[in-house]
Amino acid sequence: MKIFSTRSEIQQYLASLNGKTVGFVPTLGALHRGHISLIEQAKAGNDVVVCSIFVNPTQFTDPKDLENYPRPIATDISKLEAAECDILFHPPVSEIYDDNEHWHLNIGPLEFLLEGEFRPGHYQGVTQVVYKLLDIVKPTRLYLGQKDYQQFMVISRMVELLKIPVQLVMCPIEREPGGLAMSSRNIHLTADDRQHSLILSKTLNWLKANFDVNKIFQLEQDAMAMLQSEPGVEPEYIEIADGKTLLPADESSTSIIALTAARVGKTRLIDNVVIR
Ligand code: PAJ
Repeated sequence: MKIFSTRSEIQQYLASLNGKTVGFVPTLGALHRGHISLIEQAKAGNDVVVCSIFVNPTQFTDPKDLENYPRPIATDISKLEAAECDILFHPPVSEIYDDNEHWHLNIGPLEFLLEGEFRPGHYQGVTQVVYKLLDIVKPTRLYLGQKDYQQFMVISRMVELLKIPVQLVMCPIEREPGGLAMSSRNIHLTADDRQHSLILSKTLNWLKANFDVNKIFQLEQDAMAMLQSEPGVEPEYIEIADGKTLLPADESSTSIIALTAARVGKTRLIDNVVIR
């Protein structure tokens, strides 16, 4: 695997590949099977796969979260090599950002709904870094996980608004055997937290199994009560949303998704399930 840390080096190398299709998997590192499943899907659909590992400061709303974010770069490199990833881009912050840089992209209600309400500014940071990474890598296809469903919608909106020539591919959520969605933050969970965290996927599956478009409000209330009754779990939201807009779902929604976020011990977790 080739490893680059400057934009000029990676761009020079990518230019030499003339005409090959490039699949791109951006990450914050601390790679797990969820990330590797994206690499595998990118490998299956493209000539060359680029992964980036960059702990993007502008998308962290809590400085402690940024500071504590795991950065096991040597293990990450071994995992990428085992997955036969072709190129790793691992830049320092100075390679991506100027001092005092300003960015704002109007992505509409998506910025303030759900995650946006609890992590103000988060999606501006995400669009900022993904725009820059796409500008450097210029991939044929961009691979993103359903785990961060709202992030996928936000990036789709940016790609549409800025007419970026890239195809987006959504990859399914990889889970631990008990149902917990894999996440780099799971390493912060204690054994008890892990047990309690199972309520997230259980509740989402319960919503899916009991879904009735005429009872959305009641289902959301009951789901919230299920989360609240689990010790050590502090839910932020659980909502049944339109899969295309993320506004509240109704009879006219052709795609429907249930999404949740909760603090389990000291760790914030998110999860979702497609209802239809
Ligand atoms: P990160 O959280 O490292 O996730 C990188 C990619 O892996 C995202 O597309 C995410 O949805 C996907 N992913 C995470 N957990 C997954 C799981 N359990 N199953 C399948 N896919 C999973 O998301 C980010 O980084 C950043 O916001 C980024 C897009 C890199 C911008 O900084």
